[in-house]
Amino acid sequence: MGKDRIHIFDTTLRDGEQVPGCQLNSDEKVEVARALERLGVDVIEAGFPVSSPGDFNSVVEITRAVSEPVVCALTRAIVMDIDLAVQALHDAKRPRIHTGIGSSDVHIKHKFRSSREKVLEQGVSAVKYAKKYVEDIEFYAEDAGRADLEFLAQMVEAVINAGATVVNIPDTTGYNLPDMFGAKIKYLMDNVPNIDKAIISVHCHNDLGLATANALAGLQNGARQVECTINGIGERAGNTSLEEVVMAIECHQHLNMETGIDPKQIYGLSNLVSGKMGMPVQANKAVVGANAFAHSSGIHQDGFLKHRENYEIMAPEDVGVDQSSIILTARSGRAALCHRLENLGFKFPKEEMEIVYMHFLEMADERKEVKDEDLAELVNIDEVIKLNREEKIES
Ligand code: KIV
Ligand code: ZN
Repeated sequence: MGKDRIHIFDTTLRDGEQVPGCQLNSDEKVEVARALERLGVDVIEAGFPVSSPGDFNSVVEITRAVSEPVVCALTRAIVMDIDLAVQALHDAKRPRIHTGIGSSDVHIKHKFRSSREKVLEQGVSAVKYAKKYVEDIEFYAEDAGRADLEFLAQMVEAVINAGATVVNIPDTTGYNLPDMFGAKIKYLMDNVPNIDKAIISVHCHNDLGLATANALAGLQNGARQVECTINGIGERAGNTSLEEVVMAIECHQHLNMETGIDPKQIYGLSNLVSGKMGMPVQANKAVVGANAFAHSSGIHQDGFLKHRENYEIMAPEDVGVDQSSIILTARSGRAALCHRLENLGFKFPKEEMEIVYMHFLEMADERKEVKDEDLAELVNIDEVIKLNREEKIES
């Protein structure tokens, strides 16, 4: 049986770029968009044209710079927004308008000061209006994560009837737990009569650190598009991170899903986005953090050196990282120290190694990490090693 193709909708340049301090100029956005195209994303959300002339212009430039992915522009369910998005997408080979409105009672009451009936009508009108200009229309039911299920199902059915090709079910506030979010998608798949006429998309925020888990739960229950960003950047605690969802699909072949992403380009993209946006990646970030392939405790280092898969579920090269690293700290064991010294050209008999290890522990307690240059210092001051070196020279 063939695998289910999961569409990767990248919103680094829209939801990601909304983060304070992460704004990019048009040239920088074009550079990121070209890199996303090489990575193999299916959709690039290029911006929100009505938000500023700069954003409008960036969408225009991106439509001219890429040819393979769909280029998508965000709008509210408002004619002026849609008109500007249509203009900005004029040169796109594969344009998409992403329009929508709130679907939860809290948004309907306190954001739109409206009623369920009115927002439904406004959403449907927006889809119909956009459809006059662009064939591919994605509708977002904002805050679907907290919406009443029956009303959400009604909204999804109505916008598909109005011409939506993709319906986005965002967990805008990152409120859901994976089983809740998965059940929500399943309910829609089972209860919306025309659901087969559109692709269901998931757009999860990370307020509880569950964005990737929720997105995967959505995919396991029938969604076929996932909205994500490089390094998981995005509003507040961020969005589902592209590298996490792609590598979860790669590592779990039993899901029988595939994406068009070339994972070997992931690390390069992560560096590009973090550098351009001035947004450092936390060291323990899954897949792309500095420690994602670094082993530091003695037990782990020993196990890793015996067999990589003891402590790694993917190889660093799979995602474009050069190699795994062994970090020497006061928690490291003899195996790791020995391994590193051997890489530097030093091999000691067991008793001498014991003395070196004691010196190493003293040094490691003083300095947080013992680097190669520290090891050189360590072996230089040690009597035993001096002797050993002399022996080496003589032989
Ligand atoms: O989080 C959200 O609901 C959004 C929509 C605009 C899709 O970003
Ligand atoms: Zn969002």
